[in-house]
Amino acid sequence: MNYKQFGRLEFDVSVLGFGAMRFPEKEGKIDEQESTKMIHSAIEHGVNYIDTAWPYHKEMSELFLGNALKKGYRDKVKIATKLPCWFIEKQEDCDTYLNNQLKRLKTDHIDFYLLHGLFSSRWEQVLSIKMLDWAKKAIKDGRIENLGFSFHGTYSLFADIIDYYDWDFCQIQYNYMNEDFQAGTKGLEYAYKNEVPVVIMEPLLGGLLANPQGKIKKIWDASGLNPVDVAFRWLWNKKEVTTVLSGMSSLKQLEQNINLADKPDYDKLTIEENKVIEQVVKAYKELNPVPCTQCEYCLPCPQGVNIPRNFNLYNQAVIYDHIFLGKSHYNWHTEESARAGACIQCGECEEKCPQNIKISELMPKIHEALLFKEGEV
Ligand SMILES: NC(=O)c1ccc[n+]([C@@H]2O[C@H](COP(=O)([O-])OP(=O)(O)OC[C@H]3O[C@@H](n4cnc5c(N)ncnc54)[C@H](OP(=O)(O)O)[C@@H]3O)[C@@H](O)[C@H]2O)c1
Repeated sequence: MNYKQFGRLEFDVSVLGFGAMRFPEKEGKIDEQESTKMIHSAIEHGVNYIDTAWPYHKEMSELFLGNALKKGYRDKVKIATKLPCWFIEKQEDCDTYLNNQLKRLKTDHIDFYLLHGLFSSRWEQVLSIKMLDWAKKAIKDGRIENLGFSFHGTYSLFADIIDYYDWDFCQIQYNYMNEDFQAGTKGLEYAYKNEVPVVIMEPLLGGLLANPQGKIKKIWDASGLNPVDVAFRWLWNKKEVTTVLSGMSSLKQLEQNINLADKPDYDKLTIEENKVIEQVVKAYKELNPVPCTQCEYCLPCPQGVNIPRNFNLYNQAVIYDHIFLGKSHYNWHTEESARAGACIQCGECEEKCPQNIKISELMPKIHEALLFKEGEV
């Protein structure tokens, strides 16, 4: 296993971290036998960072992990888990969740604690409830060792949050298709410049990049390269990346990813591989139903609609043939006022769009396509 220093901490983290969100399941529940084997095998092969959270696997991930880490495994890894900020109404709620998480994980401290899934309104909630003041107390009394946040908002908010507090680390969604999405490459570089270590989530875009279809599959097949291998090395090749979390759903995937993280040249990306990635990115972008280039000339919208974000979510849902992906970002990680549904068809943006996109016509259609319908979740 290769390791990298975790920012200013005296801790070398394995370059492959274990994301405890995608365990194999049996009849809708974590397959405990298989998943325990995976956790033990990962640790025996040198993985020393496991990322979980309150809601994963219908709120069972932490509990499962606490059991899987008995018999001395707990001491061999750092545990990262997260405060489910959306449930917090007052500071005492933070204590309730953290204390419960300590019990579930059968530990007296969380090594890496994150404010889960920040975007604009959730960050406002963090500030209004003064969750950072609460977190400082939990650090002082030893229940939390390092404090960070995971992020799903825009780059500008990301930079504001980085500037706001002396964070020990942060976690962003990032892969070669998300260079301009959420924190993106600019965010990664900004955090690095500010000495905040970055943990990567969704390196394979939740698995979509591992299973290319149609035209994209043809590019990979012709190259003779493995899309998983290249996606990981694209990330490890960046000095700004501290560790990459992988959600693995089988022992076979674990073995493959450990093999990659074990290689002496794990972080080298050849010119040929870079060229294939460029072709793949171009081919995905050509599948975009809306020709938005994310230039943001259309902004600000007088209603506050984040027009490029809505187009991006819709395009992603279509090109990966994964409407739930778009819906989850639209409903859970986008302010209601920034959603396509808030458009009043004033048309002010259309004069500014260099691509002449019929924005007012598209917004209600995108809203209709991405809004969760009753009973859907
Ligand atoms: N804080 C947050 O808001 C947040 C959000 C998302 C994720 N996370 C964390 O970040 C971790 C990583 O994100 P992620 O789980 O989305 O990672 P990911 O690597 O983008 O996607 C995981 C999926 O990739 C596929 N995969 C992994 N290794 C593979 C291999 N060797 N060959 C083929 N397919 C492979 C599997 O898909 P199949 O199951 O389809 O085979 C797996 O379920 C999560 O597990 C979680 O801990 C946090």
